[in-house]
Amino acid sequence: MGHPTLRRPARAVQPEEIGSDAIHRLLEDMRDTLQHAGGIGLAAPQIDESLRLAIIEIPGGPSRYGELEPMPSTLFINPRIEVLDPVRAGYWEGCLSVPGLRGLVERPQHVLVTFQNLRGETRGLAFSGFRATVVQHELDHLDGKLFIDRITDSTKLVFEDEYLRYIEQPTPPGDPPAV
Ligand code: NI
Repeated sequence: MGHPTLRRPARAVQPEEIGSDAIHRLLEDMRDTLQHAGGIGLAAPQIDESLRLAIIEIPGGPSRYGELEPMPSTLFINPRIEVLDPVRAGYWEGCLSVPGLRGLVERPQHVLVTFQNLRGETRGLAFSGFRATVVQHELDHLDGKLFIDRITDSTKLVFEDEYLRYIEQPTPPGDPPAV
């Protein structure tokens, strides 16, 4: 946070660039960064490449976002997002570019993403729930936006340590939450 590339709208990947060696090398860098950092999504501006390119990969199982449904590694080139249902839900988002912080962000929970794949073909995928939030978070990076810009209640911006200590309430399996 503070690097100008993170705050600049990224440029479209040109048709002749899709599938090029440079893009393949960039994708390898992005996947390495993502796996090394233990994140679930990364956009090219986060590694100082101002291109409309993002990957999302949710390994599943326990994570810093709780127990997650896996999502196979998906690459989005020049993605566009359409909200299918404006009903919002809030998640405590974090970001590799904003280390050590969490913030409660409400976003629509049903979206359609149209994008190109590495063969330059146009594809569409619908996402709901947490995945819809993750996709919107990553695509925001392509427009120079960070999750902190979306927080409407600044008391819901907290340090990760305090989030884990005071906010996250993990429920042991089989043990229903107290009412
Ligand atoms: Ni992020």
